[in-house]
Amino acid sequence: MAILSRRIVFLFSVIFLSSSISSLSFSPADEYLVNCGSNVDSTVDNRRFVSDASKVKFFSSEGSVSLQGEDLAPNVPQIYRTARVFARQAKYEFNVREKGTHMVRLHFNRLSSSQIDLNDAEFHVTVNGHVVLRNFNGNNDDSSSKVREFLIWVDVGEVVVRFVPSEDSKLAFVNAIEVISAPKDLIADVATSVSRDGTGKLNGLGKQAMEVVYRINVGGRKVTPFNDTLWRTWVPDDDLFKTVDASSHKAYFTGRIKYRPGGASREVGPDNVYNTARVGNAMSWDFPVSTGYKYLIRMHFCDIASKSLGMLYFNVYINGNLAYQDFDISDATGYVLASPYYMDFVVDLTADSNNPLGSSITVSVGPSNKTSVDEHRVDAMLNGVEIMKMNNSMGSLDGFVSTDMILTSCPNRRNLSIFIAMMAFMCIFMSFYVVVQRKKVRDDISWTKLPMDVRQDNLKSGNQFSARKP
Ligand SMILES: *[C@@H]1O[C@H](CO)[C@@H](O)[C@H](O)[C@H]1NC(C)=O
Ligand SMILES: *[C@@H]1O[C@H](CO)[C@@H](O)[C@H](O)[C@H]1NC(C)=O
Ligand SMILES: *[C@@H]1O[C@H](CO)[C@@H](O)[C@H](O)[C@H]1NC(C)=O
Repeated sequence: MAILSRRIVFLFSVIFLSSSISSLSFSPADEYLVNCGSNVDSTVDNRRFVSDASKVKFFSSEGSVSLQGEDLAPNVPQIYRTARVFARQAKYEFNVREKGTHMVRLHFNRLSSSQIDLNDAEFHVTVNGHVVLRNFNGNNDDSSSKVREFLIWVDVGEVVVRFVPSEDSKLAFVNAIEVISAPKDLIADVATSVSRDGTGKLNGLGKQAMEVVYRINVGGRKVTPFNDTLWRTWVPDDDLFKTVDASSHKAYFTGRIKYRPGGASREVGPDNVYNTARVGNAMSWDFPVSTGYKYLIRMHFCDIASKSLGMLYFNVYINGNLAYQDFDISDATGYVLASPYYMDFVVDLTADSNNPLGSSITVSVGPSNKTSVDEHRVDAMLNGVEIMKMNNSMGSLDGFVSTDMILTSCPNRRNLSIFIAMMAFMCIFMSFYVVVQRKKVRDDISWTKLPMDVRQDNLKSGNQFSARKP
């Protein structure tokens, strides 16, 4: 009997597991995972990154190298063991089947190698009409994270990711690229703007380019791409949480998260984000950001702490300004506990550009006038936060420059003929250099020559980008 019941339990858990796994699988219309600079495909967390040596539409002007890292720890994932390195402008093109927002993730690991010194890396990256990285050296501020994630609206055609060394003597590189169409409900078109003057409605968000600058799982553990419905990473909030009151504590929920229409979907936030929270009387989180942009702030809520419905009311503040008064989470979630909900706010930090130290966004939750006096009450809670930087009026996410300024870097028109002559000389020199290098390093480095638009790129680039912030 005991064995039988154990079997039944086992069977049930198998059914439960497989059903939760199948509900985890969002299948995007467009999905490209590329292992750059490698001759072989590699699988990370059940995801197959294909080699860019063969199957990927990839164009380079002269001077692309596949680089194998040296002295890497054995636990470094395959995609971070190789890189493609560019001495000149290069691009990857991805055909897009479905119009809409695409997630573009660029992976960077500055490999050490005796053949090429990636300390010489400094480059710009553009995605379609947007500058996404400028004068980037391949090191992320937070060295534990190797991914930069962008959300790019694509109307038709393709996603084109360009790598442009910032000067002739500099290099560009990339270890892996992901281009994935996002679910339709990931970025809503409308959000609430919050400022000192109050709140308002802001439209047209869906078509902005964005960079994900923070994605935190409040009160919880790190969520890795393996466990996320859209292969995202959510990090714990401990470094950003500013304890205002000592009564706050972490909450953890082991029951089922009840996703429902009108609330957040599992793609908006996975179970692992909604089943943890911080609960307290008045709590704040502080996110350092750079000024000169608008930011989309998405706050995730799921009442996993109340004993019954209708007892949790609180106010939401952004930078000390009231963003949402008397938030009644029971009402918002159709009177279901443990049902997820999110709110989108926009703050404008474009006017703060004169602050060279940058700025920060403070997100707070605190008691409202409707907070009940019941002794079991929960005053306020928060489960997750995402902060997305929005492109500036130049279409850029990294400085006051346009893609044209990056890509057409002729210093000025009068010098164009001299410039072209110089480019021709550089071409000859480069091919000579390539031949010499090839002899020198033989099999260790494989040079990729693919059908390319060298002429066009060479004319247009030159990589002498000189625009700087005014
Ligand atoms: C995935 O989530 C489960 C449950 O929260 C956890 O036990 C496991 O370690 C996670 N796996 C990874 C690779 O993050
Ligand atoms: C409480 O209500 C009063 C009067 O309506 C209002 O002025 C005040 O801002 C409210 N306070 C909070 C914290 O909601
Ligand atoms: C973002 O870039 C687009 C052009 O690509 C532009 O139309 C839009 O106004 C920009 N957004 C902001 C907030 O300036």
